[in-house]
Amino acid sequence: MVPGSIPGAPTTFLTLSVLPFPRVLQHTERKMPHRLRGQSIIWSQDFDMPLLDEIFERADKFKEAPRSGALKDKRVISLFFEKSTRTRMSFEAAVDDLGGSRISTEDAMQFSSFGKGEPFEEGIQVIAAYGDAIILRHPADDAAMLARDYLQSFNVWVPIINAGCGKAQHPTQSLLDLYTIRDLRKRIENLTIVIVGDLKHSRVVRSLIYLLGKYSGIRIILVAPWELTIGHNMLAYMRRHGVEFVQAPDLAEVIGEADIVYMTRVQKERFSDPTEYERLKHSYRLTVALAEKMRTGAFIMHPLPRVDEIDEEVSRMPQASWIHQSNNGVPVRKALLEMILGE
Ligand code: CP
Repeated sequence: MVPGSIPGAPTTFLTLSVLPFPRVLQHTERKMPHRLRGQSIIWSQDFDMPLLDEIFERADKFKEAPRSGALKDKRVISLFFEKSTRTRMSFEAAVDDLGGSRISTEDAMQFSSFGKGEPFEEGIQVIAAYGDAIILRHPADDAAMLARDYLQSFNVWVPIINAGCGKAQHPTQSLLDLYTIRDLRKRIENLTIVIVGDLKHSRVVRSLIYLLGKYSGIRIILVAPWELTIGHNMLAYMRRHGVEFVQAPDLAEVIGEADIVYMTRVQKERFSDPTEYERLKHSYRLTVALAEKMRTGAFIMHPLPRVDEIDEEVSRMPQASWIHQSNNGVPVRKALLEMILGE
């Protein structure tokens, strides 16, 4: 069972047997739909290696030829309850480039009737009738799963794509992160990834670790102030799946071992006590002096937004790769949309 899933609730896409019937083609040829066709994207650990390889190959193809008609006659809804620049805009750019149409709200509590107190599930049910997929960002950890399960309980099979829910997961970010590592290092296996920052609150880090854990020879070094260390459930997951990891309090001690340094910001919006945020907001920083200790061929990534956890001058160093990483969001999300909604 997928962690967090409700006993008895419909299972996630990899085991889901309810797929559209294959379309009957001319000359009686039958073409099976892609196994992601019509499926929701809730957790990153649901992706297996063949799917990951296919997403990356399709993303490569979209870098060569950015436009297609894969989403012709499809309408995608972006429903965002939390702030976003990259995720919403890159998904919307992807829909445009694939010939689809889109409707959206960027601050659902302010600009939609959710702000009047409309129940989340019923609002989702209403919105599902307006399009072919819902891209959902929400502050609740289980919002995407709830939305999918609620729709399916009414026999509505509009896919939900988790665009970042609470502190839990941000699976499409981790897809583009992995794709960027593959771009930068020409492989994903046998790498040391140093993940730095607010690991307690980061949905991006959780999704990334679930995916990295699928590759052989991955070593993860987790660097965080003790107040922001990663949850025990993630440590247990890595132990259970034989992922080599260590925890280190000081980036200076481990940065020389990194193939990738993956920085994250302190997530102000996740702190219930603002004074605790103020106390911790400058608790780590990647300086030029530190970055110069990185070995040859190592790169710095960041899911963005970046606040002040990286010195401005580091962004001019050749190792700084976060804009390249962010740019990969469009082709990777195109690949995913094509597999979920394309013919
Ligand atoms: N990385 C990421 O999710 O960025 P946004 O919050 O701007 O979408």
